[in-house]
Amino acid sequence: MEISVREKEQKGTRPADSELGFGTIFTDHMFNMDYSPDKGWFNPRIEPFEDIPLSPATMMLHYGQAIFEGLKAYKTAKGEIQLFRARDNFKRLNRSANGLCIPQIDEDFVMDCLKQLLKLEKNWIPETIGTSLYIRPTIIATDPFLGVRASNTYRFFIIFSPVGSYYAAGFNPVKIWVSKDHVRAIRGGVGEYKTAGNYAASLYASEEAKKEGYAQVLWLDGIERKYVEEVGAMNIFFNIGDELITPSLDGSILPGITRDSVLHLARKWKMNVSERKISIDELKTAYENKTLNEAFGSGTAAVISPVGLIKYGDEIMEIGGGKTGPMALKFHNAITDIQYGNAEDTESWIEKVE
Ligand code: PLP
Ligand code: COI
Repeated sequence: MEISVREKEQKGTRPADSELGFGTIFTDHMFNMDYSPDKGWFNPRIEPFEDIPLSPATMMLHYGQAIFEGLKAYKTAKGEIQLFRARDNFKRLNRSANGLCIPQIDEDFVMDCLKQLLKLEKNWIPETIGTSLYIRPTIIATDPFLGVRASNTYRFFIIFSPVGSYYAAGFNPVKIWVSKDHVRAIRGGVGEYKTAGNYAASLYASEEAKKEGYAQVLWLDGIERKYVEEVGAMNIFFNIGDELITPSLDGSILPGITRDSVLHLARKWKMNVSERKISIDELKTAYENKTLNEAFGSGTAAVISPVGLIKYGDEIMEIGGGKTGPMALKFHNAITDIQYGNAEDTESWIEKVE
């Protein structure tokens, strides 16, 4: 399929790297493609970043049939542009598509579209370590129809946003709050897909956490409200004694690509690593026994984010003296060194754009 290009006449300017937060600034162009049952995916095009005209009856607006991805492009010290495990994001997008009854995309084709858009927008990629170009591929249901069923038509788009750190704290420990009253997802539902409704379901508890001064919610499982699942925008790891633990993927947790990268490196480094159920009681006991050495989150936006404090009901667990621990630092450095081209890509995680 030929990708058509319509360029913007008046180009915008990228703010200084030091001014970048997360997700507020968008680049000049976006990629769009549509789907209909008779044509399949059609009309792939690069166009100026602009509003999408939608009927107020658009199905996505009412029933949340929408999926997305989050990945990043990095600029190396030599000025090269590189993507980190981008094909895994498109694979996961197709997994989410399957779960939400959305047609599959051709992963190789959308990789080509992404690379073409990146070449056009290369001046928007920030250069400082800790900054990057956040990439948001999205698919929305576009039938104008009020009955509940899977849509027949869809829009796929990719937008870019130059970003700094996701948390205001940067690479400093965040405080997280365990929700006792709300759950994000249950096994058999859509928790393992990257779909809009999971984030809508997280808002009430997230706002409560924020009011109390916490960065995000640590979710427990939806059935027993006993086992740790994940954090609002990242997977979670604990170091107890000599064991590195992350909750297993039982169907209600997003299978994070950063999580997978941490697990891969931990196994390569011969660490004692487990994907298993971990209850909040086990965490409390480890905290009391002083064997809970570290906690950290992993995610594309959050990178590796040390957790300095967890609040569960009236109990406050300050972890590692509220400071960044050695494991978080080791994973953070190993992963970001590969992402920014400062270490050899021994795991074949990098795809160069130019
Ligand atoms: N869990 C949730 C709910 C997320 O939104 C994210 C972010 O994408 C993650 C985990 C981490 O996934 P990844 O490492 O693929 O970015
Ligand atoms: C990401 O890390 O890419 C995410 O999607 C997290 C979030 C901003 C929803």
